[in-house]
Amino acid sequence: MWIAVTREVSPALANCELSHIPRSPIDAARAGRQHDEYQRALEALGCRLIVLPAEPLLPDSVFVEDVAIVLDEIAVLTRPGALSRRPEVASVATVLRDYRPVLTIEAPGTLDGGDVLRLGRTLYVGQSARSNAEGIAQLRELLAAYGYAVQGVPTRGCLHLKSAVTQLVDDTLLVQPKWLDREPFADFRIVEVDPAEPHAANVLRIGDALVMPASFPRTQQRLIDAGFKVIAVDVSELQKAEGAVTCCSLVFREVG
Ligand code: GLY
Repeated sequence: MWIAVTREVSPALANCELSHIPRSPIDAARAGRQHDEYQRALEALGCRLIVLPAEPLLPDSVFVEDVAIVLDEIAVLTRPGALSRRPEVASVATVLRDYRPVLTIEAPGTLDGGDVLRLGRTLYVGQSARSNAEGIAQLRELLAAYGYAVQGVPTRGCLHLKSAVTQLVDDTLLVQPKWLDREPFADFRIVEVDPAEPHAANVLRIGDALVMPASFPRTQQRLIDAGFKVIAVDVSELQKAEGAVTCCSLVFREVG
């Protein structure tokens, strides 16, 4: 059984942080309806939802992925790189303590969960504007005892590592080659996003299915042609907030 922690869309979503896309009007109510559809898609794939209430004062708080990393053995609460996002951590921590022992990234470390891609026993971490060397070093130290390696990966021109690469199946990744070098992922098979869809590399793998934004039909077709089961969801209002599909949930196995 999978658990998916989500949080309702903040009515203040339009005041979100933006780093690599221009600001455009955001309809928070429409974003909320799209988020509902996203949650239904997760449920249809077998996730049990734990839905936190909206945080009216925290615009980006729907993007719960950034505030924690949940592994089978442990959860790590992050210290988000954007100051406005640090108050998002506490309420997610309260939920996670019911499911995992919890460790924390401390100042001066910063780390966004969107920068963390777990591939087997290695966590690849984007060296981004949000995740600094101290945060990555702390994560490495915290997880060594659990048998995980942590490897920093330079990114360029994108918010998070998972804007540029996500996992399709154990040995295959979906990559936006403009935003990172392939060298750290040389052992993996690579599917590239369609060049007309630069933001399409963020897909959410649940079991044998891939949840992805409906706005990337060309990349979706590539994945279907390669034999993948794709569930497309309209998250266009959340994309205006520089969000995508992995960032709207923390999905982890119910263990024990
Ligand atoms: N708006 C998402 C972020 O910048 O964290």
